Amino acid sequence: MKPVRKVVFPVNGLGTRFLPATKAMPKEMLPIVDKPLIQYAVEEAARAGITEMIFVTGRNKRAIEDHFDAHPELERELEEKGKDELLEIVRSILPHNIHCIYLRQPKALGLGHAVLCAQPVVGDDPFAVILADDLIDAPKGCIGQLIEARASVGGGSVVAVQDVAPEETKKYGIVSVDDGSLTTPRVRGIVEKPDPAVAPSRMAVIGRYVFEADIFDHLARLQPGVGGEIQLTDGIAASLENVPTYAHRFEGTRFDCGSKQGFIDATVHFARKRGFEIH
Ligand code: UTP
Repeated sequence: MKPVRKVVFPVNGLGTRFLPATKAMPKEMLPIVDKPLIQYAVEEAARAGITEMIFVTGRNKRAIEDHFDAHPELERELEEKGKDELLEIVRSILPHNIHCIYLRQPKALGLGHAVLCAQPVVGDDPFAVILADDLIDAPKGCIGQLIEARASVGGGSVVAVQDVAPEETKKYGIVSVDDGSLTTPRVRGIVEKPDPAVAPSRMAVIGRYVFEADIFDHLARLQPGVGGEIQLTDGIAASLENVPTYAHRFEGTRFDCGSKQGFIDATVHFARKRGFEIH
């Protein structure tokens, strides 16, 4: 079984729920306390042994490339002023031995299409996908847990799942599984944003995935689905017959930082952890 060394970060969404903040700035650069969402995501991937960070970007996303690039003037200034702690923070933004690759999605046609844009770089290798606006606080990073789960079932695709309230099913991809009592059951079906009345379960897919490269063939054949977008969920559904796919109940606390409420909850949670007082 090939190890997972590549991750795709689709960062070309419009981030409309955070307007006006996201008019000229990517949603993934919004900070939780003092660190942008995308940096939390890159650190999680690096901790899982991933070395190739592939960003699927677009217009207005230059800030992400700049963030992970060296900034010689800033470093010189901090050095001259003896601000060693800040210098170390700036220099360690990108962990060692990591390569960043930037691709563009010409049009925001949907998450499935964004993942498909990474095919020329991913090639035949298994790969992870992280949606940086799902921030997960876990002692062992969520993507690392998925990679371990993949190894324990002998390969295939693994998606992270979490039980949600019945009225929430229409916000997520929802899976049906063989045996819901298992930590990593086999997936039999998946549907995008079903109404509670027709949802096959309450197991919602959140923004962490590990895929075999076969997913690309299925994504390439898709027509637009819910919301007129090329949906990653539809690609997974189409691959279920050929690729063993598992849902993994990860350990950790997840914050939906694509919504204002989730973003505020995450800010309070991480601020408390860092010792700030919340009045
Ligand atoms: P969302 O559904 O959260 O959409 O995308 P969004 O545009 O980012 O935010 P809102 O809903 O308008 O506020 C899920 C993920 O898929 C990426 C987004 O960047 C986000 O990480 N995405 C979505 C793309 O990269 N390209 C697309 O065409 C669509």
